[in-house]
Amino acid sequence: MKVARVLISAEEIEAKLAEMGSAITKDYEGRDLLLIGILKGAFVVLADLSRHIKLPVETDFMAVSSYHGGTHSSGVVRITKDLDQEIEGRNVLIVEDIIDTGHTLKYLLRTLAVRKPATLSLAALLIKDDVERPHFDIQYEGFHIPNEFVVGYGLDFDEKYRNLPYIGVMDTDSTTSPTDVQDGFGLAD
Ligand code: IMP
Ligand code: MG
Repeated sequence: MKVARVLISAEEIEAKLAEMGSAITKDYEGRDLLLIGILKGAFVVLADLSRHIKLPVETDFMAVSSYHGGTHSSGVVRITKDLDQEIEGRNVLIVEDIIDTGHTLKYLLRTLAVRKPATLSLAALLIKDDVERPHFDIQYEGFHIPNEFVVGYGLDFDEKYRNLPYIGVMDTDSTTSPTDVQDGFGLAD
């Protein structure tokens, strides 16, 4: 297993988040807005995206788990950390790193809708194409990517690589021994 190549560069991500941020600024001007980052993956996206939103937003986090290591979704989702505040009557924007099978999102949207927010919208940096999943309205979309396992910019493989500044593709066919593993940090330069 190794980080094989850069799929989306740090510069491309930055430009996309600036675009998404100005769209959000325009749409929520004069209204209250609560950003909800879904941990752990969204911590990097939320940090960078929120700084492109020129409004006095509030932020909160929720942690759910649907993965137990490895590269495949288990389909089982549970809340491991709930929000610190009530969302009834608030404009809520969920910030996600990636939408893959949609299991996490389906569960989150259902769970949060019950709490009666005034509005509930969605921003996702990455959307995997060619994956069968329920339809979601995604108000703020980053990049559509092929159905490959990616790391970096908050996304992990076995809890590592979240701090890569770009989105990289893992080489899952690799039979490299642990000593050969390429950590991906040299790839961006
Ligand atoms: P979903 O429930 O299958 O849509 O995926 C939910 C979570 O799985 C995401 O928020 C990520 O944390 C993780 N995930 C999905 N695809 C990838 C990937 O390609 N790389 C790393 N994590 C992923
Ligand atoms: Mg993960």
